[in-house]
Formats: sequence, structure tokens, C-alpha cells
Amino acid sequence: MVRECDLRTASSAEIASLRDTLNAVLAADLPQDPPWQERSLREYLTEMMPGERRIAWVAEADPGEDGGVTTAGMANVLLLGSIGVLEVLVHPSARRSGVGRELVLTAARRVYQEGFQTIGVEAVGDTPSIAFFEALGFTKEYVETRSVLDLAGVDWAGLDKTAEGVSAGYHVQFHPGGLPDQLIDAYARAKAEARDVEDGELRPSSYDPQRLRDSLDCLHRRGMTPYIVLAVHEHTGEVAGLTEVVVPAQHPTRADQYDTIVVPDHRGYGIDRAIKARMLLELRSAEPQLTEVQTWNAQANEAMLKVNAELGYRPDREWCEYSVDVPELVHRLDAIH
Ligand SMILES: CC(C)(COP(=O)(O)OP(=O)(O)OC[C@H]1O[C@@H](n2cnc3c(N)ncnc32)[C@H](O)[C@@H]1OP(=O)(O)O)[C@@H](O)C(=O)NCCC(=O)NCCS
Repeated sequence: MVRECDLRTASSAEIASLRDTLNAVLAADLPQDPPWQERSLREYLTEMMPGERRIAWVAEADPGEDGGVTTAGMANVLLLGSIGVLEVLVHPSARRSGVGRELVLTAARRVYQEGFQTIGVEAVGDTPSIAFFEALGFTKEYVETRSVLDLAGVDWAGLDKTAEGVSAGYHVQFHPGGLPDQLIDAYARAKAEARDVEDGELRPSSYDPQRLRDSLDCLHRRGMTPYIVLAVHEHTGEVAGLTEVVVPAQHPTRADQYDTIVVPDHRGYGIDRAIKARMLLELRSAEPQLTEVQTWNAQANEAMLKVNAELGYRPDREWCEYSVDVPELVHRLDAIH
């Protein structure tokens, strides 16, 4: 049975059950990924940017012998802008019996009622989700490569040199936890200037100062600590390059690399390598439990992939964005239901 679930008021046992399902899915599909911890999991799921809403559903399994809460699967949709971003997970022991399809149909009907035209979803390469979303008529829109850096293999002495390798005229700064207010405008401008029209739609970036403030605030509320290294152009005070890493309380041994940007006028001065190297050096002391960093890059972004390879990142899997027209999906699934 699929039922809507208010994650803000769900019992701790329900949240623990969701975590167990997520970890069973990870163990089956992405066994190299660290399991998630319960710390800040509720906040991760319920804290949002202004104007965004998340609606969640749970597919219940038959109660276990001990009568404990058991989850066969779960889905949630994040309504942002004009798109509903869907996540669906089905416990490995409950797969291929229509639970996933039922969850998608329930979510799609609701997204339709809410007046949204498109659902987008991330599907991980070499997992059943690719065949699943293609069977449901989703179309592949965009592909990125996820790469993972194992910090145990990093040449720290070499990294020290790389971090120093920025041309004269730039000053590299480290900002744990966020940004000083006087840098917010210049930072948002750098992001806007380097905006990549080819970027995927599902992880929007922050191109204006207020959205940037909201986004940093939202990360903290979700239990995720942002770290920023930036290169300031000394002559103009402009932010010439920036790199962002987030350490989530939910999996604190593996950090997520967010944006790395070098503004077009400042390319060719060693900024990309230097800021990424400085970030790793800083994280080593700020987050000593950290063992890995993961990052996602468009396959066309050869320059970024080259720098990442030099730092020791190893390509891991394809990460695909799929989308579907909501009315069409609802009508199709209703017809076979
Ligand atoms: C993708 C997923 C949601 C599918 O759930 P499910 O309940 O097994 O899916 P359904 O039984 O509703 O399958 C619907 C259709 O999708 C297709 N499908 C689903 N799994 C498939 C697989 N492993 N191989 C081929 N086709 C598949 C089939 O066409 C299936 O219809 P059929 O069983 O009548 O042939 C589930 O495998 C899952 O949770 N995967 C993990 C998702 C994920 O994001 N993992 C990584 C990040 S944590």
C-alpha cells in the first residue's frame, strides 16, 4: 500500500526505516558508497529553499515478525520552479513486483494535480533504475560522469606545490562554513558569468546574491557543511575562481564537490588546479574523518576532467537525467493499471 508521508512529523522509527531501506538500496546498487547515517536525515529531507516543496510517499511492506516498521519502497518529489524532481527507491527484497511503478504513478498523479508539466529524475548508470525509467517512457536528457577521489592515494606534498601554483595577481582564500557578507555579490557574479547553458536542470546553481544566501542557509539547516575556496583578482577585487565542497552529516566520510568555476577572463593562470588543491589540503585538517570526495562533470567538460584526473579522481559511473511529460505519463500508467 502506498501512502503519503509527512516527513516532518513522521516517527523516529519511520525515519530509521527509511534510512534502512536507503542503505539496503545502496548496498545492492552502489556498494562502494558509504551507508547513510540517521543524523540530520529528517532535516535533509524536509529543509528546503524558499518556494520549494517536497511531498513524500511510502510503500509499506507486510509487518516483520517483531511488528517493526518495514518499508518496501519510498518516493518523493521536490517541486521546484516548473519541474518536479522525483526520487524512487524500492528495497531489493521487494523489487520486480510493481512497487516502483505504483510509487511513480502516485507521485505523477499528484504532480499533475499540482499543475506541473514535467518530471525529472536522476538515474545511476549500471543500476536497475535505467531500465525502469526507460520502461516507463522517460527520455534521457543529460549525462554526467561521477568521479571519486580516494584521499588515501593523494600525493599531499605534490598538492602543496599545486596549491601555490597560481599566477601573481591572485589571492587564494579559504572560507569554512560559508562566505563573508562582503563577498556574496562578487561570488554570485562569478557564478553568473561562468554559467553553463548546457548544465543539467535538476541541480540549479545560485546566480544572484539572495539565492546564494538562501542556499548556504539551507545547506546548514539540512546538516550539510559548505567549504569554499576562492581566488580573488587583487587588482579588481573580483572573484576569479571558486570551488565548493559540502560535507553532509548523513555520510561524513564522503564529501560532495559542488561547483568549480574559473571566470572566462581569468582562465589560463593556474587557478583551477590551485583552488582545488588548497581545498583538499584544508579539508584534511577541517574534516579528519573524510576519506573520499565525489564530483559530477559533463562528459564534454574535458578541461575539468583533466584537472580532476591529475588530482587522482577516478571515473566511477554515468549519472543520467531523465524527464517525462506528466500528463502523458499519468495517462499511460493509468491505462495499464
Ligand atoms: C528502479 C527501481 C525503483 C524499480 O523498482 P521495482 O519495484 O523493482 O520496479 P517495478 O517492479 O515497478 O518495475 C516496473 C518495470 O520497470 C522495468 N524494470 C524494473 N527493474 C528492472 C530491471 N532490473 N531490469 C530490467 N527492467 C526493469 C520492467 O519493465 C518492469 O516491468 P516488469 O517487471 O513488468 O517487466 C528499483 O530497482 C530501485 O529502487 N532501484 C534503485 C534506485 C536508485 O536510485 N539506486 C541508486 C541510488 S540510491
